[in-house]
Amino acid sequence: MICFIFVVLCGLSGSALAKGKVEREPKGKFSVPVLDVKSRQLVLEANQTLTIHCRGRWELSWVFPGGVARDKESVQLEDSRCGRQSQHYCSQLIISSAQAQHTGSFRCRYSHRTRRQSAVYIYVTDRQRPFVREQNKSPDVVYIKESQPLVFPCRVTNPDATVSLVKFPDRELTPDQRNIVWNSRQGFLIRSPTYFYIGLFSCKTSVNGTTHSLSYLTHRQVNKIMEVYLNSTSPVQTLQGDSLAINCTVTAEWNSRVSISWDYPGQVNRAAIISRRIMASKTHMVFYSILSIPKLHRSDRGLYICRVTSGPVSRETNVSVTVYDRPYIRLTPRQGAIVEAYAGQKSYRLSPKLRAFPAPEIIWLKDGKVAAEQCSRYHVDGNSLVIRDVAKEDAGKYTILVGIQEHRLYQNLTLSLVVNVSPGIGEKAVSLQDPGSLPQGSRQAPHCSSHGVPPPHIAWLWHPCPPKGLSGGTRA
Ligand SMILES: *[C@@H]1O[C@H](CO)[C@@H](O)[C@H](O)[C@H]1NC(C)=O
Ligand SMILES: *[C@@H]1O[C@H](CO)[C@@H](O)[C@H](O)[C@H]1NC(C)=O
Ligand SMILES: *[C@@H]1O[C@H](CO)[C@@H](O)[C@H](O)[C@H]1NC(C)=O
Ligand SMILES: *[C@@H]1O[C@H](CO)[C@@H](O)[C@H](O)[C@H]1NC(C)=O
Ligand SMILES: *[C@@H]1O[C@H](CO)[C@@H](O)[C@H](O)[C@H]1NC(C)=O
Ligand SMILES: *[C@@H]1O[C@H](CO)[C@@H](O)[C@H](O)[C@H]1NC(C)=O
Repeated sequence: MICFIFVVLCGLSGSALAKGKVEREPKGKFSVPVLDVKSRQLVLEANQTLTIHCRGRWELSWVFPGGVARDKESVQLEDSRCGRQSQHYCSQLIISSAQAQHTGSFRCRYSHRTRRQSAVYIYVTDRQRPFVREQNKSPDVVYIKESQPLVFPCRVTNPDATVSLVKFPDRELTPDQRNIVWNSRQGFLIRSPTYFYIGLFSCKTSVNGTTHSLSYLTHRQVNKIMEVYLNSTSPVQTLQGDSLAINCTVTAEWNSRVSISWDYPGQVNRAAIISRRIMASKTHMVFYSILSIPKLHRSDRGLYICRVTSGPVSRETNVSVTVYDRPYIRLTPRQGAIVEAYAGQKSYRLSPKLRAFPAPEIIWLKDGKVAAEQCSRYHVDGNSLVIRDVAKEDAGKYTILVGIQEHRLYQNLTLSLVVNVSPGIGEKAVSLQDPGSLPQGSRQAPHCSSHGVPPPHIAWLWHPCPPKGLSGGTRA
């Protein structure tokens, strides 16, 4: 204790010395305000006077511990200009009768740049009051949060106080500085609180034979939302007058509570009926919220958002809802009514543009008969007709019939398929096997037949015969 008093005296009476010293430091940059207290912490006794000087280049302000009331009587601030040419700002803090509850960090900072600050931690010891906080009979509640240390905030007025942590009724926990850490400025800190730390705990200390304690009831906040999903992930399409129901399912940790709310277009008119259900399994909880609208209007189209919150945790998911005025079919060719393929092509897809609601039935015809029944190479894929190994005989008229039976809506579209065939020559060579030599001036009619789609053009080319032995002479 004697040494602390010594520090205190130095700190307090040293302020006048410090003042002179600061003035002799013209190069002091004052990037942060400077306190006349050189040590990072001071220990006073209750009823002593605390004086701290702060000096800086700009205007100064103070931050006090929570227990320091800013009434004018106990706390005084004196601001002045200082330095040789009054170029500096000085602020003096005086607490004329320091009390245990004033224990904490006193910070002097620049008013306009509050992160530039200097701090000193002051302990105001009081044998009657070893803990900074005083407690009435009921314990304080502290929360155990997911992946956060647990703190029993029983900070003390004397840095040397010996404090123990006791789990009700009498299990004493010793600080190991790994998981259980004692800090006179914070209290007990449990780095990874397990289920063991759920219950009633107390911080205990004795002064001169008297035991003082603060008790805490820990509460584990369970707010782990595991999954949130709607039973419809793809956009919902509906008709005016139909009903809508969307199920939002939330799975959360066992023993947790969630609140589920909906954001949707008809919210202001409270257009929806929302019903809830909770189910608990052995390992987790499942919450359902079902939003239903019995009779949809156009104005009900838009985004339906299911929002889930559990303590500080929140999650959301959404689905878009389209409300059509009436059922419809829109069927148009993609590029004109005549389409082309090539014989030998591996596959060809006839696919007109089709939009319809509700989902229509589709039949493809080839030349008036059901296509798939005509040839095993034809198959319907979605709205398209796919022809495998395209052949010449696939040319023809293809009709897609689109119908929505329940609304008696029908449409059709016919596409003409042209199959291009690359030209081939019927005869292996021109009709005369070997014309041999022909008398000059005689008439010959070599012919060539060819087919292809579209009809090929035929052009004759003349080549001189290759020279035969020595006799030479090329004639045609
Ligand atoms: C502080 O002063 C009050 C009353 O003036 C007195 O009751 C109390 O015992 C004093 N505390 C200490 C630690 O001297
Ligand atoms: C400590 O306790 C004794 C008797 O219990 C008492 O006489 C003494 O004044 C106490 N000291 C302080 C500093 O409170
Ligand atoms: C929808 O909600 C009900 C609760 O009424 C639930 O039993 C059902 O499994 C949910 N369906 C889906 C697909 O989420
Ligand atoms: C979603 O759940 C609601 C309510 O259980 C049900 O009426 C609706 O048909 C479901 N939708 C889908 C796409 O499963
Ligand atoms: C709706 O959900 C999608 C993905 O699930 C997300 O990207 C989008 O931002 C959400 N929209 C709104 C308005 O919340
Ligand atoms: C196709 O539609 C027209 C009217 O757009 C109709 O006259 C014709 O009968 C329909 N064809 C078939 C095969 O349904």
